[in-house]
Amino acid sequence: MTTKFKTKFTIIKGDITEQDSQAIVNAANSSLMGGGGVDGAIHRKGGPQILAECKEIVNKQGQCVPGEAVITSGGKLKAAYVIHTVGPIWRGGNSGEAEVLRNAYYNCLQLARLRNIKSLAFPSISTGAYKYPWELAAQIALETIIANIKKPHFTEVKLVLFNEDIYKVYVDTYKKISRE
Ligand code: APR
Repeated sequence: MTTKFKTKFTIIKGDITEQDSQAIVNAANSSLMGGGGVDGAIHRKGGPQILAECKEIVNKQGQCVPGEAVITSGGKLKAAYVIHTVGPIWRGGNSGEAEVLRNAYYNCLQLARLRNIKSLAFPSISTGAYKYPWELAAQIALETIIANIKKPHFTEVKLVLFNEDIYKVYVDTYKKISRE
């Protein structure tokens, strides 16, 4: 039995495009025109509808600023929505990367709340092409998510890691945070 306000938070290994959460988060770039990694997988499996909506967003409000979040339908994905966010490119840690990464997670959660989305799946933002160190990224991701889901709204929030190595980093980091 879960209490009324308890959000189920899980850290899993898997493919974000296979999640049946109401919304999944895309690790996009500011152009919102697609790319590799998570971005490539979501557009490939979600189909052209997602890109069409991204183009509309860019035409209306310009590119997506790092740390901000925008929403489209999920196209052909199991998820009804894709929340696109842009994480920071790692430049050594002294260019405000931590703040931008925190904002990215926070703004995705806030946008999901605003749109009454109750279940959300995140990838590990910025830890691929954007080269964010895994331990530092995991700390920020977990702290931001855990702080946010203490306020009632979500039934489930997931972190979906693509391989064993980064999955272990997130689980170890979660254990460290939970002990503090
Ligand atoms: N499901 C879950 N996680 C995935 C998947 C997937 N299908 N594919 C990749 N990942 C993991 C990567 O292993 C990495 O740990 O997601 C994390 C983020 O990696 P990227 O997708 O490269 O995202 P990021 O580092 O934020 O770089 C964004 O890459 O794809 C381009 O257009 C994108 O320019 C943007 C940049």
